[in-house]
Amino acid sequence: MQRSNARSRLKFESDMTDPPSVETSPGHHHRSSPSTLAKPKSKRTKSIIMLIVASVVIALVLMFVCYSIVRSRRNRRASLRYSVVIDGGSSGTRVHVFGYRVESGKPVFDFGEENYASLKLSPGLSAYGDNPEGVSESVAELVEFAKGRVPKRVLKESDIRLMATAGMRLLESSVQEQILRVTRRVLSSSGFIFKEEWASVISGSDEGVYAWVVANHALGSLGGEPLKTTGIVELGGASVQVTFVSSEIVPLEFSRKLAYQNVSYNLYSHSFLHFGQDSAQEKLLESLHKSSANSTGQGIVTDPCVPRGYIFGKISQKDSLQAAGNFSKCRSATLAMLQQGKEKCPYKHCSIGSIFTPKLQGRFLATENFFHTSKFFGLGEKNWLSEMISAGKRFCGEEWSKLKMKYPTFKDENLLRYCFSSAYIVSMLHDSLGVALHDERIGFAGKAGQDIPLDWALGAFILNTATSTFDYNGKSRKILDSSKLAKYRNDIS
Ligand SMILES: *[C@@H]1O[C@H](CO)[C@@H](O)[C@H](O)[C@H]1NC(C)=O
Ligand SMILES: *[C@@H]1O[C@H](CO)[C@@H](O)[C@H](O)[C@H]1NC(C)=O
Ligand SMILES: *[C@@H]1O[C@H](CO)[C@@H](O)[C@H](O)[C@H]1NC(C)=O
Repeated sequence: MQRSNARSRLKFESDMTDPPSVETSPGHHHRSSPSTLAKPKSKRTKSIIMLIVASVVIALVLMFVCYSIVRSRRNRRASLRYSVVIDGGSSGTRVHVFGYRVESGKPVFDFGEENYASLKLSPGLSAYGDNPEGVSESVAELVEFAKGRVPKRVLKESDIRLMATAGMRLLESSVQEQILRVTRRVLSSSGFIFKEEWASVISGSDEGVYAWVVANHALGSLGGEPLKTTGIVELGGASVQVTFVSSEIVPLEFSRKLAYQNVSYNLYSHSFLHFGQDSAQEKLLESLHKSSANSTGQGIVTDPCVPRGYIFGKISQKDSLQAAGNFSKCRSATLAMLQQGKEKCPYKHCSIGSIFTPKLQGRFLATENFFHTSKFFGLGEKNWLSEMISAGKRFCGEEWSKLKMKYPTFKDENLLRYCFSSAYIVSMLHDSLGVALHDERIGFAGKAGQDIPLDWALGAFILNTATSTFDYNGKSRKILDSSKLAKYRNDIS
């Protein structure tokens, strides 16, 4: 990433030193002149003068053309605006630096290498619960990276925002606030435009809406007909987001309205906190312990989501954990977890726990860990969900030592999770959300359109920039609900 930064700088500088090499070219125009004909001396002198005049004119014209080209290129570059979004995720903090142009009142987004760069530092903000001050160092480093990408003269016209997600949502609100206070201090002295409310913990459904925005921007459907848009299911580390346009009537608490250009979208959006891949795996272990506490009193807890032969560290005085990889058992165990609380469903029907999800409709992209796991198993684009079952069966049922040999470059804790995640993905998408195993309307993806990363932070940038640049008529200006802002004010007062 640092490298791509350096490259674009170089290019910028070479533009400035490019112009010359013009003066030498008009020379050959002389050669075609009829200078060999024997003519009276005065006539010859006259034609020589005319030739000189002509070539000077041609040279001037060429110089002017080149100058204009160089200048317009430089202007285009100079007219780039910049915006920075810092994503405070559960596993790390990532800064995104965006350059964009405004053409006839509308922002033009381009996520190519020259106009977009990002850098991630681990651990995430939420790891600093015991030491909020510690956050300043990593945020300062991310700000430095951003400053390296933004020309000095436009720094104070460029905005910087920090949005934290599920990892921070899991902390107590007083601790969240302490961490945010430190980040605000760093960001206010960064030289970028910054307002206190621009560092916040965003809600899960904001995150889902942003992810939906970037996907539909990438696919060219943002601003188009609502029912032709593409929905999003994201499997993060701590939470899962489901966001799509539904034609069902959606209870208010799951309903988000989004205005983009002249179109208004009614979205279902919900973030299932604690159902992200890492949180769910931890929760499963906990519940295995609890259930064993009753059965054998003291003894052995078996984990069907870990391949046989894996040796756990000792987890408690009483119990020891035994790996007993079995995909089908793991799938039922995760499904039981997803169904917990369903008996209390207050809606027509519930998908996960006691949460309402309308019937999925239209096309969908499954992102983040849905994508990573599918990639890991090398699944094809078609039938990937049914291929996930066979791949998961093979992986969960394999001996740990054989897996270690097959994947020598993986760290244990990373390799370990693919048994759980394959089973979890099937129990979530198929068993809970009702996606048919051969449904071709849902694909896994990490990028879409012209290689645009399906990262919610890009969607946040698109929406923020669109609201601040579009010529809207009053009522559609507000893109996201104001309730969040009101809540934020309560939190700090
Ligand atoms: C939005 O405006 C564009 C032209 O700017 C038009 O082509 C399109 O049909 C409009 N869409 C709706 C839903 O009104
Ligand atoms: C253990 O047994 C007690 C009493 O039978 C019951 O209330 C509790 O829910 C059980 N715990 C688990 C985790 O099954
Ligand atoms: C996995 O568990 C199921 C029961 O849930 C059992 O029928 C099956 O034989 C087990 N598979 C293996 C490979 O042990």
